[in-house]
Amino acid sequence: MLKRSSTLFCLLASVFVHAQKKPTVQQLEQGKLLAKNCIDCHASPGATLADPLRGIRKIRTADYIYSLLKNPMRFADENNIAKKAFAKRGLQMPPFPDLSKTEIKKILDYFDSLATDKKNNKN
Ligand code: HEC
Repeated sequence: MLKRSSTLFCLLASVFVHAQKKPTVQQLEQGKLLAKNCIDCHASPGATLADPLRGIRKIRTADYIYSLLKNPMRFADENNIAKKAFAKRGLQMPPFPDLSKTEIKKILDYFDSLATDKKNNKN
């Protein structure tokens, strides 16, 4: 009996943790508005000026993204990964020093949400 209730507890706890991590509809809406600053270049999918931002957190750390947004071109001078990413494109990215970590998270959650909505998209 004890074993069974602890299994149930674990199950509920993981459902709860998962629910906490998932952005709410409202957060995604805010992310969509904030993403207007990025979409001209990072339209996702089908970006032509810069790579889509969907899934970017799988290949770049939160610190990397946060530092980059403060001042992308200066960051690219100092960071080799960023330097390479920018070298691919003949385009500069403007700085967004006023975006908070929470706002950046909302933007990226929004871009990631596009992936789950369009499962068949191969981009
Ligand atoms: C004027 C065009 C432009 C705008 C607007 C823009 N970016 Fe970028 N961004 C670029 C280019 C060009 C690169 C480098 C090449 C690439 O990633 O395709 C880049 C790179 C990045 C990278 C690093 C990608 C990597 O591979 O390391 C992140 C993260 C990023 N942008 C986030 C944003 C966010 C978030 C916004 C909106 C707040 C934004 N960008 C707005 C042009 C832009």
